Amino acid sequence: ADTKKIAVIAGDGIGPEVVAEAIKVMKKTEELYGLSFEFEHGLFGGIAIDEKGTPLPQETLDMCKAADAVLLGAVGGPKWDNNPKELRPETGLLGIRKALGLFSNIRPAKIFDCLKDASTLKPEVLEGTDLIVVRELTGGIYFGDKFRREGANGEEAVDTCVYNVHEVERIVRQAFEIARTRRKKLASVDKANVLETSRLWREVVNRIAPEYPDVELEHVLVDNCAMQLLRRPASFDVIVTENMFGDILSDEAAMLTGSIGMLSSASLGEGAFGLYEPVHGSAPDIAGQGIANPIATILSVALMYRLTFGYHEAAQSIEDAVASVLDAGHRTADIATDRSKAVGTQQMGDLIVAAMK
Ligand code: NAD
Ligand code: IPM
Ligand code: MN
Repeated sequence: ADTKKIAVIAGDGIGPEVVAEAIKVMKKTEELYGLSFEFEHGLFGGIAIDEKGTPLPQETLDMCKAADAVLLGAVGGPKWDNNPKELRPETGLLGIRKALGLFSNIRPAKIFDCLKDASTLKPEVLEGTDLIVVRELTGGIYFGDKFRREGANGEEAVDTCVYNVHEVERIVRQAFEIARTRRKKLASVDKANVLETSRLWREVVNRIAPEYPDVELEHVLVDNCAMQLLRRPASFDVIVTENMFGDILSDEAAMLTGSIGMLSSASLGEGAFGLYEPVHGSAPDIAGQGIANPIATILSVALMYRLTFGYHEAAQSIEDAVASVLDAGHRTADIATDRSKAVGTQQMGDLIVAAMK
């Protein structure tokens, strides 16, 4: 078969633990579906700071650029939390997204029926929840100028939020296209009652909307959206929003599925190339214990298969295996009602591999 190059940057904390399980799943699909992967591992995040003096070494970036897709774990941890900006793991994460042109971050939140009890919300509220947050990933306040200065009352800090028309257009078009393949509903989330970037955002959305007459559009202010997500999650189909709002709303959406350990993501640019990572972070509080939920990362592989490689059958096999293992009652601690019966990270990976057809 045509061998695909996968750049693996496992990162810190639970990153390497969950990535190992995702690779097991990929190897199983090689066997079952005749796929072929070449895995190359690179240093990234805190571990790269320790070993190379920078969170995103040039050789890691080059390896990612030469790959067909990137599989990422998570970065960060208390060890590096007080470092200056250039020596923070998170700076490497923003750097790789920017350097690879990955402006679109797709974060699906779909409830597995058997996990309705795992959420902190009432099962009847969650019924039918199946949404995608489309988060702009390379602009906004994350990437605007940041600095300190001396103000009239002492030290001040400044973060600037910038969006240009082009940046808004390309993400909004992508969201409309995705909505078109689904229930044809798009919620554009902004803070247009206060922010100039949001007013530009809304203007662009309204200008593009007539090109998609089949998609029902609503504008929702971000504070209201945070509330509506808990009140009527099932009514959302596609949510498109700017970088920081998308970061926050997707963690909130995670709880609709029972745990942040369930939420997968794809980061895409103009072509098929993509970076795939769980939505969660390095979870320093549980790192090294072998109890992290690997499902977010495993489902990110299914996204990789669909969106970068068009391996739909193999993707379905992964998603079905996850569903059947959950249906059989297997739970990692984060989604368990009885934590004494919870399985560990590796066991969950093995169960999913064994369930694959
Ligand atoms: P986090 O997502 O790492 O953890 C939040 C909570 O969720 C913790 O209680 C953690 O134990 C739990 N959790 C997360 N993933 C889990 C999983 N797979 N299974 C079970 N439980 C899970 O967020 P945080 O604690 O705010 O951040 C920790 C570090 O991770 C910080 O350094 C942060 O900057 C970084 N971070 C990195 C990424 C990324 O690499 N994409 C994303 C978010 C946060
Ligand atoms: C995420 C994370 C990152 C973000 C951090 C770690 C920089 O929270 O991927 O959601 O805010 O984008
Ligand atoms: Mn986040």
